[in-house]
Amino acid sequence: MSHPTQPAAIVTGGAGHIGQAIAAGLAADGFAVAVADLDLVRAQAVADRLAADGRRAIAVAVDVCSYASAQCLAATVLEAFGAIDVLVNNAGGSARLVGGGYGPFHEAEERVIAAMIDINLKGPLFVTRAVAPYMVARRQGRIVQVGSICGVQGTENVADYSAAKGGVIAFTKALAKELGAHGILVNCVSPGLVPRPGEELERARQSNYLGRACTAEDVAELVRFLAGEKSGFITGHNHVIDGGRSLAMKTA
Ligand SMILES: NC(=O)c1ccc[n+]([C@@H]2O[C@H](COP(=O)([O-])OP(=O)(O)OC[C@H]3O[C@@H](n4cnc5c(N)ncnc54)[C@H](O)[C@@H]3O)[C@@H](O)[C@H]2O)c1
Repeated sequence: MSHPTQPAAIVTGGAGHIGQAIAAGLAADGFAVAVADLDLVRAQAVADRLAADGRRAIAVAVDVCSYASAQCLAATVLEAFGAIDVLVNNAGGSARLVGGGYGPFHEAEERVIAAMIDINLKGPLFVTRAVAPYMVARRQGRIVQVGSICGVQGTENVADYSAAKGGVIAFTKALAKELGAHGILVNCVSPGLVPRPGEELERARQSNYLGRACTAEDVAELVRFLAGEKSGFITGHNHVIDGGRSLAMKTA
């Protein structure tokens, strides 16, 4: 194990749209970053870009739905960086991740329901379970979950995804109570719509009160704050970032 010379962070789903921005943001803040993703090729490309910018980054293959894989991730990062200071449980997504469609729950496919719970709820629980003991041992750490306003409001046609994200918010609160005495802060960020490249922007613009689409960097800024020194008394909360979308129904 190398001696920690700089703080280290894991970003699951680090090859994805929001994950890349979080990884880049934390790297810019001085963290050595493990870009952890099911898709190792894309994760490696993200890590290579960060390294080309002079940052310290590695790519690690992980399936967050497997506890063995989560344990392997924690061990790999510990070996590479000597410590884990920040864990961002960002891997996740709605039915399209597994080739499913959106629709009423009474018509949902069993495999999609299972995948939504596995990726979005079991995943963060497994990775946290694998990483938290190392943070407890050092009496320091930050855990940031990426939830969704679906987990706050319950969104029709993505009921399984909503249930999983709601679970993540409850997990955040329970974990913050358990880990506070160990010096570890736990928070959740819940974005509204964050269009990926190529996705239609107009619906995202109209969905909030700011008249522009939320960017991955908007979300990353909040994660950076919660992972950084200036948020040292904030724990156990779900931080909605949605341009006011969830305040009320926006009138047309
Ligand atoms: N994009 C949005 O509108 C939006 C809104 C609210 C919340 N979120 C949440 O933000 C997070 C990131 O979403 P995104 O829009 O960047 O999605 P994305 O599809 O671009 O990225 C998700 C990443 O997770 C990885 N992944 C999927 N299954 C995995 C597994 N089992 N193990 C490890 N990695 C896995 C994928 O390979 C991908 O790189 C998700 O948790 C999502 O639910 C997104």
